[in-house]
Amino acid sequence: MSALTVLSRPLVEVIRKRTSQRRYLPEWLAPELKRRLSQHLQALPTPPFAPACRFTLVEATVGEARAARTLGTYGAIHGARQYIVGAVTRGTRDMENYGYLLEEIVLFATDLGLGTCWLGGSFNRSGFARAMGLRDEEWLPAISPVGPVSPTRSYSDRLLRWQVRSEHRKPWNELFFHDTPGNPATETSAGAYATVLEMVRLAPSASNRQPWRILKEYNRPVFHIYLQRNPLYTAAAKTILPSGDIQRLDIGIALYHFEGAAREAGLKGRWQVLDTVPPFPKAEYVVSWNGLTAK
Ligand SMILES: Cc1cc2nc3c(=O)[nH]c(=O)nc-3n(C[C@H](O)[C@H](O)[C@H](O)COP(=O)(O)O)c2cc1C
Repeated sequence: MSALTVLSRPLVEVIRKRTSQRRYLPEWLAPELKRRLSQHLQALPTPPFAPACRFTLVEATVGEARAARTLGTYGAIHGARQYIVGAVTRGTRDMENYGYLLEEIVLFATDLGLGTCWLGGSFNRSGFARAMGLRDEEWLPAISPVGPVSPTRSYSDRLLRWQVRSEHRKPWNELFFHDTPGNPATETSAGAYATVLEMVRLAPSASNRQPWRILKEYNRPVFHIYLQRNPLYTAAAKTILPSGDIQRLDIGIALYHFEGAAREAGLKGRWQVLDTVPPFPKAEYVVSWNGLTAK
């Protein structure tokens, strides 16, 4: 991350405020908000891995038959007039980078008072790909509507939230570990990183599966990040699902929450892919936060 995103309030407050919104007021973004958001899309922080990402604001012309057909969300989203759409150059850790950056944008939009909702599955990929001029070497993993939201949630939104238990998050002892994978971390063992881990816990994830697992080294600010796949989203499924390896987006989101909260707390460190890390049962290693560095 080049620098912490400038927000009107602490990032941890914005993370707590964000929630998926699926019913929007059918209004265009006010010109000043549109300018700020568009400008922001051109000045994103540096993500942890190499593949490049680009993002743009796409407007859906409601009432125009072609746009309604091509820019569809299969009824998941109501009323939204604009979407944040992006592309990542295919490569190692492309989904993680995309997740990291789209979450940064989602939190920026939340701070502007706008609603968002990660969509990795329920949208017409080819319509949005055309709208943003997707190139051969690129992939469009997910989008988000962005705009002013209706004060009440739609029935379908409430139903979906109930189905995936959106209000709930796994407890610490299922997500964070200290020294060995069998030993749950506590606020005490997390030390200065307690708020950082809590911010990961509150992150959004596909179907709210929360696949991130974090192992902190004994008495050292070194954290290994693992992906524990849900059977619904196995590595095999990624080859047949149009959404791709969606849980790697969740990891990218968690990395942004981790790093943003750490930087805000003045905790120095950087992401490193290590050659040897402790094995974690039924999980894949992704990357480590080395809090011993001076960066
Ligand atoms: C990578 C990703 C993909 C998602 N895809 C969809 C989707 O296709 N449709 C949808 O309605 N919600 C989608 N969601 C939203 C999740 O259901 C939501 O984040 C989760 O239930 C937690 O609720 P919250 O965001 O309100 O905290 C997605 C979230 C993530 C992170």
